Amino acid sequence: MTEYDWRPEHATKSLNRILPEVEKTFAAELGRVSHEWQKFKNRLHREWERLFAYLHQLYGWQYDFFYTLEQIINTLVQYWLQRPAELKSLDEKREADPFWFLSENVVGGVLYVDLFSDNLAKLDEHISYFKKLGINYLHLMPLFAVPKENNDGGYAVSDYRGINPDIGTMEELSKLAAALRDEGISLVLDFVFNHTSDEHIWAQKAKSKDPDFMAYYHTYPNRELPDQFQKHLREIFPAVRKGSFTWCEEMKRWVWTSFNSFQWDLNYSNPEVFRAMAEEMLFLANQGVEVLRLDAVAFIWKRLGTNCENQPEAHTIIRAFNAMAKIVAPCLLFKSEAIVHPDNVIQYIHPDECQLSYNPLLMALLWEALATRVVRLLEHSMRNRYPTPSGCTWVNFVRCHDDIGWTFDDQDARNIGIDPASHRRFLNKFYTGEYPGSFAKGVPFQFNTDTGDVRISGTLSSLAGLEDALEKQDSELIEQAVRRINLLRSILVSIGGIPLLYIGDEWGMLNDYTYLTDPGKASDSRWVHRSRKRWNDREDLTDQDTLEWRFFHEMVKLFSLRKTLPALQNGGMEVIHIENPHLFGYIRAFGGQKILVVNNFAEKPQTMDALQLKACGATKDVIDLIKNEVLSSGKDLVLNGHQSVWLDIS
Ligand code: GLC
Repeated sequence: MTEYDWRPEHATKSLNRILPEVEKTFAAELGRVSHEWQKFKNRLHREWERLFAYLHQLYGWQYDFFYTLEQIINTLVQYWLQRPAELKSLDEKREADPFWFLSENVVGGVLYVDLFSDNLAKLDEHISYFKKLGINYLHLMPLFAVPKENNDGGYAVSDYRGINPDIGTMEELSKLAAALRDEGISLVLDFVFNHTSDEHIWAQKAKSKDPDFMAYYHTYPNRELPDQFQKHLREIFPAVRKGSFTWCEEMKRWVWTSFNSFQWDLNYSNPEVFRAMAEEMLFLANQGVEVLRLDAVAFIWKRLGTNCENQPEAHTIIRAFNAMAKIVAPCLLFKSEAIVHPDNVIQYIHPDECQLSYNPLLMALLWEALATRVVRLLEHSMRNRYPTPSGCTWVNFVRCHDDIGWTFDDQDARNIGIDPASHRRFLNKFYTGEYPGSFAKGVPFQFNTDTGDVRISGTLSSLAGLEDALEKQDSELIEQAVRRINLLRSILVSIGGIPLLYIGDEWGMLNDYTYLTDPGKASDSRWVHRSRKRWNDREDLTDQDTLEWRFFHEMVKLFSLRKTLPALQNGGMEVIHIENPHLFGYIRAFGGQKILVVNNFAEKPQTMDALQLKACGATKDVIDLIKNEVLSSGKDLVLNGHQSVWLDIS
């Protein structure tokens, strides 16, 4: 017999008690929008049962749970009332086409506003560049008010409603969102919700020993609990500091700080924190943000005796935010940033949680295959780990603003005869250029003296060999590096999910070592790939001999080709095994179209034989869509070094 679930009935009871009171509170405003109020209420009724269940799971044991429910419903109504009319109509549009982001038309780019255009006002002038490139999903790296020096590249937020004054104002951001929207570009921002900076007003009040705000963070009078927790915790930034707790002299207490000592972890076991952050989230949605990248999702719930990552409550919190967003701002999507074991990454992906997720495994394994020239681990892992729940998809990237960590599963590696620990050591040596014959110019990040672990920084081009080749002025090596870069970008664009280009990679940006002279940045090698170097496309686009021009055009070509191919919708991806260890192949099929993509990870030409091609469905003459050449039926497919082909085998 299944146990009686009392929650649906009581969810309705609570709503019926609370809503009339809330209607009284907002009577004047609601009078002005009575025709829309019903639509809001429909969504509230639709989502409430699950929202109630999540909140009950998180806070139901607290004596004032009913007060929490009242507060949440107040918040929902308040932020819905504040939502601008244009965004409400976007909500309706998206509700009519909820899976728009699965389309082959969606192509992403990510940039730091200050590095790209100095400020928000000037970013406006670059919309035509994004259009030329083909981007319609634009992620602006954190641009909120932060401490002057200690800000972890914007990830230590002091005010979610304030923009860093060097970058602009909130008004400029909403204006930009509207301008982007007019051009069909969706704005994506970070929601840095695991921690605030220690200069956030909540942290300041905690420092002044206001008990209400001390309860916003995890603070401890002595080392007793921190020591017990610490035994099981991973060190995220071991080169900067040891341990996950920081002594606060003002409070005379230890504070939980998973990342840097100035990033204070929020205490989500306090319903006030949940509500306050939900308000910040809805505020951002009301500025015109369409996708929120949920930063550091894995860390938001702590449980003694565990590593305090990926706890069940972390999922519940995100689902509760998701339900709130569906009620107030239904066009808002979440993208999860879980750079953890692949078994855990996938758990954040669900229509009721994060519809989108970074794909750190694909990123890491593309680099793995580029170093080894052998695709077995990539193939094996992707075959088993690619599918996402329906209505969701990956956001793929070859480089981002963070380091590369080798997050593949140890057992996946062992299954194909690879020893995971020594393989990681090899990859680290390879990408820091220590391994004899390596083409890569990576920089170590966060070397852990206790475990010997390290991660890798560097731009796509420098890691793929362009920097080394240019230094050697060797034209053959330069061509090899160009081919490697184009190979990775071709996979990015053709494999299932939204391709996300780190802006700069469209023109081949190299490492920038000037961060070493900036004391605020010198200890964080990730700045090597967060460069201020710019490329003047207006001048250089006329000079077709430059590498920049070649990279840019190849990128534009791949993006626009993608948009003509329904098979590249996110209808899934089937990895195929090719009897050649250097070839990584997959089939994309949708809407009657079928495309076979084959990628050569070796410098030398490689063959996929005619029989295998036939077995994949290439039974007649097929077209290589990138080169626009016909491959006659019955012939072997011969790929040049690092070539990628997209064959229409429909
Ligand atoms: C995320 C960000 C990273 C930052 C960390 C702490 O992992 O991508 O840049 O250091 O969160 O906020």
